Amino acid sequence: MSPFKIFFFAALLAAVFSFSAADFNSDVNVAWGNGRGKILNNGQLLTLSLDRSSGSGFQSKTEYLFGKIDMQIKLVPGNSAGTVTTFYLKSEGSTWDEIDFEFLGNMSGDPYTLHTNVYTQGKGDKEQQFYLWFDPTANFHTYSILWNPQRIILTVDGTPIREFKNSESIGVLFPKSKPMRMYASLWNADDWATRGGLVKTDWSKAPFMASYRNIKIEGCVHINGRSSCSPSSSWYTQQMDATSQARLRWVQKNYMIYNYCTDRKRFPQGIPRECAPSA
Ligand SMILES: *[C@@H]1O[C@H](CO)[C@@H](O)[C@H](O)[C@H]1NC(C)=O
Repeated sequence: MSPFKIFFFAALLAAVFSFSAADFNSDVNVAWGNGRGKILNNGQLLTLSLDRSSGSGFQSKTEYLFGKIDMQIKLVPGNSAGTVTTFYLKSEGSTWDEIDFEFLGNMSGDPYTLHTNVYTQGKGDKEQQFYLWFDPTANFHTYSILWNPQRIILTVDGTPIREFKNSESIGVLFPKSKPMRMYASLWNADDWATRGGLVKTDWSKAPFMASYRNIKIEGCVHINGRSSCSPSSSWYTQQMDATSQARLRWVQKNYMIYNYCTDRKRFPQGIPRECAPSA
């Protein structure tokens, strides 16, 4: 192929798929916070801040119908009680789909809670919560959402912490028809976040700040009702291999602090179907 043709095909591919741009200027808009969200270092870094009057947030410019998004995040250090830092996918409307990472802050020295959930057609109730095996405020760590037609896999530094499989065959809804946008935010939720709302935000420590970098979106871009997708992308058919399953069991055994699947009080009629070991 001539250099020109190679350039042409590369440009065409880049237009159709959203490749690892790793540039916040091209991938996202700071959507709210009146200057509290800032894109820095030529698009390499994005900081969100929160003070008594407002938090802040950003969102992807485009919507995706399936994708894999990696984000490095460094959470609010010190006394972060009452704050919530998020990274999630969400569709529009009253019967929305959503895939959540939410980091619930804590007092200095107490662990953050990583709260996860999956909504389909406006219905969630699928919470799993974890502690992390490192201090998420000391350095950046990579949090990833993989969403393909067969499964959702949430990973932390490449270690899967949760798999939500497509269990439509046994009557469980799975998000697969609504395009979702990526969102991230830092906001105050001291009415519930830390120890169920008992510990309040210490505003004398404001402004609180969380940092994001190395955004990497590989997705099927959805524009005007059409999705451009390469089913040959490896994430599109990715499954959990034996090593990943062993890592997932390690996390679930040692770091999971809440699992809706085992909350019998909440589901007296029986645990949700997708929770059955055979599902
Ligand atoms: C905060 O720390 C306490 C004490 O270790 C712990 O019980 C709680 O799960 C932690 N996380 C949140 C969000 O409250």
